[in-house]
Amino acid sequence: SFSCFSVLERAFSLHKSHLIKDMEPTFHLVRNIIPPLSAKKHKGQDGRIGIVGGCQEYTGAPYFAAISALKVGADLSHVFCAREAAPVIKAYSPELIVHPVLDNPDAVREVEKWLPRLHVLVVGPGLGREDALLENVKGIMEASRARGIPVVVDADGLWLVAQQPALIQGYQKAVLTPNHMEFGRLYDAVLGGPVDSADHHSSVLRLSQALGNVTVVQKGEHDVISDGQQVLTCSQEGSGRRCGGQGDLLSGSVAVAAGICILRPLTPVKMSSPLLVAAFGACALTRRCNHQAFQKHGRSTTTTDMVAELGVAFSSLFEA
Ligand SMILES: *[C@@H]1O[C@H](CO)[C@@H](O)[C@H](O)[C@H]1NC(C)=O
Repeated sequence: SFSCFSVLERAFSLHKSHLIKDMEPTFHLVRNIIPPLSAKKHKGQDGRIGIVGGCQEYTGAPYFAAISALKVGADLSHVFCAREAAPVIKAYSPELIVHPVLDNPDAVREVEKWLPRLHVLVVGPGLGREDALLENVKGIMEASRARGIPVVVDADGLWLVAQQPALIQGYQKAVLTPNHMEFGRLYDAVLGGPVDSADHHSSVLRLSQALGNVTVVQKGEHDVISDGQQVLTCSQEGSGRRCGGQGDLLSGSVAVAAGICILRPLTPVKMSSPLLVAAFGACALTRRCNHQAFQKHGRSTTTTDMVAELGVAFSSLFEA
């Protein structure tokens, strides 16, 4: 029943060389939309990203998402986290703007004040599952959606979406980045049945369509991406090492790429699927960072090592 969808690139039964060749048209698109650096622009013009996440237990995830957004080219990264997480996240980096508001009864209004100044939100890194926090995040997602701000949802943000799919249903400026387990939970919540794990392409397409063509990135051995119309596979070489935090690097990168692809008015390429291309670019970048970090650090590779590779990985993939 899915024979009519346009598959730009199939992972199955192809050799790696074919896969790389077949990803080339998408790479070409990504390269064409990367804005040149220019002294004429003012600070903030290349992306102000907001990360919604960070609680007492989890402070690393929002940090990795926020610092990755900066290293991919965002001008400013804001983190909206619970009070106790704020000093910890600030201590990791002087480069982030940290707002200790997420467990405040006024959280939605506090974040809303900043929304006019933000281009893209990432919801979920290090969020945890405390009811009060999730209730605030729900309000923040509704407020962002009302303003048409693109939103990347990961981690416990996906847990919230699985409880309340209406939050994201039909919002085509959303990108969901589930891992294997998160994907299964979402799929079950939205489609009411277990995933056919033998056919990633169909499953990802089906979930995207059931959510009203919201872009879905299923992270895995290959990353499978769909916007309800096309399905892309990113098979950029990574390594056998997957470290905790890698997903946060991805969500921060998707946010910057989404900002570029959706918001840039003078894009030289007419794109029918901007978020699909953005997600593909970010997946390729994350995998490339993993590959490069692994070349240097092997088994001891951590997300910090991957973040350090973002600049070179970006150049080698998109500016070569
Ligand atoms: C999603 O995309 C499919 C394939 O192009 C289309 O048939 C369907 O109408 C779209 N759904 C929405 C809600 O836009």
